[in-house]
Amino acid sequence: MEKTNTKTRVFSGVQPTGNLHLGNYLGAITRFVALQAEHDCLYCVVDLHAITVFQDPDELAHNTREVTAAFIAAGIDPENHIVFNQSQVSGHAELAWIFNCVARIGWLNRMTQFKEKAGKDRENASAGLYVYPNLMAADILLYHATHVPVGEDQKQHLELARDIAQKFNNDFAATIARAGFADGFFPLPEPLITGPATRVMSLRDGTRKMSKSEESDMTRINMTDDADAIAKKIKKARTDPEPLPSEVKGLEARPEADNLVGIFAALAETDKESVLRNFGNASFSSFKQALADLTTSKIVPIGAEMKKLLAEPSHIDRVLERGAARAHAIADPILDKTKEIVGFIR
Ligand code: AMP
Ligand code: TRP
Repeated sequence: MEKTNTKTRVFSGVQPTGNLHLGNYLGAITRFVALQAEHDCLYCVVDLHAITVFQDPDELAHNTREVTAAFIAAGIDPENHIVFNQSQVSGHAELAWIFNCVARIGWLNRMTQFKEKAGKDRENASAGLYVYPNLMAADILLYHATHVPVGEDQKQHLELARDIAQKFNNDFAATIARAGFADGFFPLPEPLITGPATRVMSLRDGTRKMSKSEESDMTRINMTDDADAIAKKIKKARTDPEPLPSEVKGLEARPEADNLVGIFAALAETDKESVLRNFGNASFSSFKQALADLTTSKIVPIGAEMKKLLAEPSHIDRVLERGAARAHAIADPILDKTKEIVGFIR
């Protein structure tokens, strides 16, 4: 295997937990698409992560195919890049175990996502939910990935992945050097958190993240929503009584306005400044009409393509199977070296 970590490799994952939404699309999937031009990319449907909270088995299988369909419909090319589901590559779970023994309990105790997801009844959360960030580090480092496009909510997990890589490189410095790696075995992965919509907020409350698990469907635009649903949700989106400001500074302390302008900017592939140049002083009703039209024009064709792809599940399953075989080919030599470095007889 290569002994330099100079080449870039992109890795990211999306959980197959249903209700794929505009936040996933703008914060993650559009970024995945853009990175294909310049990098070798692996995009993973992280089913092992999904089961940290109980998933109905039939729904899990459907949701895994649905995320795969969304990747392809949005423009990810599974021929030139690698699309697969995590559980088909056993190295994720194997490396995660090693990382369970590298990461410190104190580090995991700081993870805000665990605190949010476990809620008040922490005693009753699965052990998997607690060590979830170690599995995420394994996902990335199993491929020596260097760049990880994610939404803002994953920043802390990326920092943990870097800490794990660093501690592994330190703890095993002697055997890493003996194996011929001059500057550490695992690269420290860089988060890529870019664009005007790294944190898309709920349509009903500008202080809460748009989320798959939010009970009310009115809080999010789903990738499979039709034009009527999109128009209705945007029309009913919470706003404040003022017209739109003409400069970005005017969005401060107006979370709902800021969110809708950010969504518009991301969908139009521009920035908030330029949106406000066009819509500054406009009323929300006219801005919302334009936003609904733009959202519909971008999302509805993707939803339609997803439905078409999902009508042929065996085709999707073949994509995942081939992707897994190619992922294995990258992961296996890295996992093998990792085992040598740790001192396992192989
Ligand atoms: P998940 O659905 O938790 O697997 O998230 C998949 C990807 O979408 C991750 O990169 C998240 O950071 C991103 N993401 C999830 N929700 C949002 C949101 N509301 N705004 C922006 N990005 C998001
Ligand atoms: N934890 C991420 C989320 O919930 C999903 C994920 C799992 C991921 N493994 C990853 C993202 C590796 C980037 C890289 O959104």
